[in-house]
Amino acid sequence: MFEITTERPEDGPAIEDLLDQAFGYDRHAKTSYRYRRGRAPVRSLSLVARGPLGLVGSIRYWPVEIGHGGAPALLLGPLAIHPAHQGVGIGRGLVYQSLDMAWWARHRLVLLVGDLRYYGRMGFRPASPFGIAMSDEQPERLLAVELQQGALAEAEGPVLPWTGGPGGSVRRSLRVAAE
Ligand SMILES: CC(C)(COP(=O)(O)OP(=O)(O)OC[C@H]1O[C@@H](n2cnc3c(N)ncnc32)[C@H](O)[C@@H]1OP(=O)(O)O)[C@@H](O)C(=O)NCCC(=O)NCCS
Repeated sequence: MFEITTERPEDGPAIEDLLDQAFGYDRHAKTSYRYRRGRAPVRSLSLVARGPLGLVGSIRYWPVEIGHGGAPALLLGPLAIHPAHQGVGIGRGLVYQSLDMAWWARHRLVLLVGDLRYYGRMGFRPASPFGIAMSDEQPERLLAVELQQGALAEAEGPVLPWTGGPGGSVRRSLRVAAE
């Protein structure tokens, strides 16, 4: 029996071990970490799956923005399930539960870099036909799901690290500096 709950601060070391196992010790060099460095995950959407012997799965999300208009979105990942417990629906459970929570929190759009054969079953589709791109990633691996109708049509351009959304703090200070 597995239970899905919000991540607790003391889960940190077990999550790091799980991610090292799933993605390797060099995972911090991946493109997606560019969006995570120096930023915290969205705490309310960071979920873990626990079994009788401890933590077996983790999902996190980071805020990002799209294009120079700064359309806000969430970047799903990393998602990892302990090898001994893969294939029994825990990954799907974490994705569905966190997407539901993101919908309730009024997030509009979720992106990820992953395999369409897996995430397509959960409603994700390629983002590149909507003009959304992530540099250094294969376009067919950049996937998206709308939580609010029309969110994909409103977002166009490169996926960028979060600066605070439209008129965000970094952009605002750049603008002030330029004036
Ligand atoms: C990918 C991963 C998160 C899936 O979690 P999981 O709990 O094992 O998956 P679920 O039980 O929800 O779903 C299992 C189904 O997905 C399929 N599946 C798993 N990974 C897949 C992939 N990369 N591509 C296509 N299908 C995949 C399985 O074959 C299985 O199919 P079935 O239902 O027809 O038998 C997990 O295998 C994992 O942690 N892998 C290592 C890290 C990783 O690759 N993370 C994803 C980064 S995008």
